[in-house]
Amino acid sequence: MKKGTFVVLASGRGSNFQAIIDRVRDGYIDAACTCLVTDNPDAYAIQRAEDAGIPVEIVSYKAFSDKDKYENALLSVLARYNPDLVVLAGYMRLLGKKIVDSYNGRMMNIHPSLLPAFQGLHAQRQALMYGTKIAGCTVHFVTHDMDAGPVIVQRAVRVLDDDDEESLSERILIEEHHAFPEAIRLFFERKLQVDGRRVLILP
Ligand code: GAR
Repeated sequence: MKKGTFVVLASGRGSNFQAIIDRVRDGYIDAACTCLVTDNPDAYAIQRAEDAGIPVEIVSYKAFSDKDKYENALLSVLARYNPDLVVLAGYMRLLGKKIVDSYNGRMMNIHPSLLPAFQGLHAQRQALMYGTKIAGCTVHFVTHDMDAGPVIVQRAVRVLDDDDEESLSERILIEEHHAFPEAIRLFFERKLQVDGRRVLILP
């Protein structure tokens, strides 16, 4: 009997989604991924879900006349699967209050920077432009403010003199593929304890 279930939201390529389901398959994460939800009917993540036999729900933003209706549709899809955890793996939309409140402490996002540095889009480009020597990724709980929730796992990479956005993004992505499964595993082992802004990792 697995420790619980989770649903993944992804908008595109889905390499994080793939890394996560690979770690479910090899037993590192003791939980079942019951659905992939995407806002993008062309997302490559859909192919990955189909290959893994995971149900796909397409909730296309364009199919709704406003954000509220879109979010209600998303909420009702999520409610149908009733997951213990919602995982945002390259999901490129900001979620509204209703959804964030519904999954308070049970929704995680990955961001390609060492937060709180470089929130928002093109985080790797922002790091290069700023000139930091260290970059990385962050898995955090989702709160109302974008890329600002309590930090669960971070992994760092060195920025090299000859890096461009692509090479830096690639090396950060390798770390993302470790960081996200680790955070999800800790969640299902009930080892994450949120204490204000800090996430304590129980022994
Ligand atoms: C990842 O680098 C992820 O950190 C980033 O999008 C990429 C998705 O890649 N997410 C964000 O920037 C969210 N603000 P993937 O589709 O191959 O997992």
